[in-house]
Amino acid sequence: MVAIRAVNGKHLTFFKSGRMTTILKRLIALGFCLGSYSCYYDQALEEAVIPDIPEDQVILFSTDIEPLFSRSGKQCTICHNGAVQNPDLREGKAYNSLVPEYVTAGDASGSPFYQHLPGNNHAIDVGFTLSVEEIALIKSWIDRGAKNN
Ligand code: HEC
Repeated sequence: MVAIRAVNGKHLTFFKSGRMTTILKRLIALGFCLGSYSCYYDQALEEAVIPDIPEDQVILFSTDIEPLFSRSGKQCTICHNGAVQNPDLREGKAYNSLVPEYVTAGDASGSPFYQHLPGNNHAIDVGFTLSVEEIALIKSWIDRGAKNN
């Protein structure tokens, strides 16, 4: 290992020794920790990564959107159940809870619901996220008028 000569002329001897390896290992470990930590941060999705839903693909609230909230292993309704956290996403309750308070029909990007989905900037880590395809469905459902269909 090459020694680096400091401004005052003294060698920074640890660069020659095994300590360099130790320091490198610590830096790598630190980087790893920071990297893993950043995974817990639910960032807002870039518009570009959200797939387009073809115009002719029908999106129904009852069969395409509402069921996304109460799937086994991905249950929004553990918290969003009218008692713990709003909006209430339980089947039969979700539509009236979402529109118009959390969803502005025709404007997904301006809707708090779309802006804070797990996978797209949810406030807390819930251990799972919606996929980009599911987020895209919700986006198009809102942009197409957020119908109760
Ligand atoms: C473990 C509990 C928990 C789960 C599970 C959960 N959330 Fe949340 N959610 C919260 C909490 C807590 C907040 C509010 C945090 C705050 O007020 O800052 C929140 C906020 C939100 C908001 C923002 C509401 C607002 O006031 O603007 C949306 C939208 C949302 N959650 C959607 C979902 C969806 C969709 C799912 C399932 C895919 C889900 N959440 C799963 C706890 C949860």
